[in-house]
Amino acid sequence: MDVFEALYTTRAMRRVKPDPIPMDVQRAILDAAVRAPSGGNAQGWRFLLLDSPELKARLGPLYRDGLAQLFDGYYKPLIEKADDQGRKVFASAQHLADHFEGYPLMLFAFVRHDPSGGSIFPAVWNAQLAARAHGVGSALTSILGLFHAEETLRILGVPEDKGWQLACTVTFGYPTGRWGVAPRRPVHEVSYRNQWSEPVGFTVDEPLWGNEP
Ligand SMILES: Cc1cc2nc3c(=O)[nH]c(=O)nc-3n(C[C@H](O)[C@H](O)[C@H](O)COP(=O)(O)O)c2cc1C
Repeated sequence: MDVFEALYTTRAMRRVKPDPIPMDVQRAILDAAVRAPSGGNAQGWRFLLLDSPELKARLGPLYRDGLAQLFDGYYKPLIEKADDQGRKVFASAQHLADHFEGYPLMLFAFVRHDPSGGSIFPAVWNAQLAARAHGVGSALTSILGLFHAEETLRILGVPEDKGWQLACTVTFGYPTGRWGVAPRRPVHEVSYRNQWSEPVGFTVDEPLWGNEP
């Protein structure tokens, strides 16, 4: 697959089939993850794949509780004044929570000595891009680490005294729908040159991949 196609179309893919992800695809996903950069090449990461129905059943209620706390708290005003696009994102996030146990595979990414997150999220994104290249959808989630970190670590048997922190959980599955280009505010609205607020010097009115003549 063209690298730009993967970059532009790797969306949060939350509507997926229950079909299992083959082992060779799982290998490719994790092998791509460990190719990512980390500060000082320290590779202070661990990756835990989860496909146990019993463990998913224990984590699902925690995930749903965390999302409910987020939606009833910090996100409440945003949900109330969301436009159609915003409402779709919240409905999609709720869908993931409601179907947590139905995702055939999850990746739990752990890191230590990484206050910025800069040494784990490149690896997570590599994993998501590799999944995309194999036709597998993924969604990065932070709910369990934010609201139920201790219990999640206990359920997954993570040693308590070694400093491991849950960076995120990624769900995987073959999409029920189609891949599309991620809609975003255009480059020239969010980028500057030399001084804050100064124009970057070009505009990008349409995504540069997928709109070639
Ligand atoms: C740091 C981070 C945390 C996220 N946490 C969650 C989450 O807890 N639950 C969820 O459903 N999606 C989560 N997402 C996915 C975002 O909602 C998604 O990337 C965003 O809406 C853009 O979606 P799109 O690429 O499909 O346009 C997270 C994404 C990032 C980068």
